[in-house]
Amino acid sequence: GDDPWKECVEVAVQLAVRAGQIIRKAFTEEKRVFTKTSAADLVTETDHFVENLIVSALKEKFPSHRFIAEEATAAGSKCVLSTSPTWIIDPVDGTCNFVHRFPTVAVSIGFAVNQELEFGVIYHCTEERLYTGRRGQGAYCNDKRLQVSKVTDISKALILTEIGPKRDPETLKLFLSNMERLLKAQAHGIRVIGSATLALCHLASGAADAYYQFGLHCWDLAAATVIIREAGGVVIDTSGGPLDLMSCRVIAAGTQEMAAFIAQQIQTIHYGRDDES
Ligand code: IPD
Repeated sequence: GDDPWKECVEVAVQLAVRAGQIIRKAFTEEKRVFTKTSAADLVTETDHFVENLIVSALKEKFPSHRFIAEEATAAGSKCVLSTSPTWIIDPVDGTCNFVHRFPTVAVSIGFAVNQELEFGVIYHCTEERLYTGRRGQGAYCNDKRLQVSKVTDISKALILTEIGPKRDPETLKLFLSNMERLLKAQAHGIRVIGSATLALCHLASGAADAYYQFGLHCWDLAAATVIIREAGGVVIDTSGGPLDLMSCRVIAAGTQEMAAFIAQQIQTIHYGRDDES
């Protein structure tokens, strides 16, 4: 057929929606909360349950495929992108929101072959919105085609970022100083919504003009990158160079001009790489 990954996309959509139903049900229930790399890096039983559900269903259907998933990585699994077909999964993006019942929580499923991102599926669990992007075939929210904004000038921009898990004084100083630089450059506003994937979906939808972050992971980026590129946007490294999925940093924007301007302005916050444990 024309699209060798058609069945994979369909299965990903089914699983994201099924996982979303489970998360929606657990949303208002009592949760046991555990920490990972820092006091602000949270995980719940739902994260584990949903990841196992998605990964075991995919393994059964596609036994030769590889997997990179947030909670398996936290438990010590290697996080390397080979040339094999690879699923890159965040079972609950916005775990802190989930814990607090702040209704911005997503399931993110990305898929890469030969180290190239092929498609992405992100499901907004509480609003029941499905974002999809397929390389060469556009990006959608439910049935609506997505298109990024064409804003090139920071003084007309609404910017999104996320805080990242580190809270040491040096990290906080750089984080706040990056915000200060963009506000001094007259950005209209900066929003922190607590889910990297849904922030990136807002960018793809044209509801914001740029996104930048240090300290996110390949499972926050994989699906969203396809969706943004297929909506006409750019996803690059914070240095201004090409995106490195494993580098734990990103700038995404509707236009190359906007992305390049932000790359010029912000200072690097050092996080490790996903592929170095
Ligand atoms: C995190 C959230 C958070 C962002 C982190 C992500 P998680 O994902 O998107 O807003 O700051 O960098 O890793 O842990 O909720 O899946």
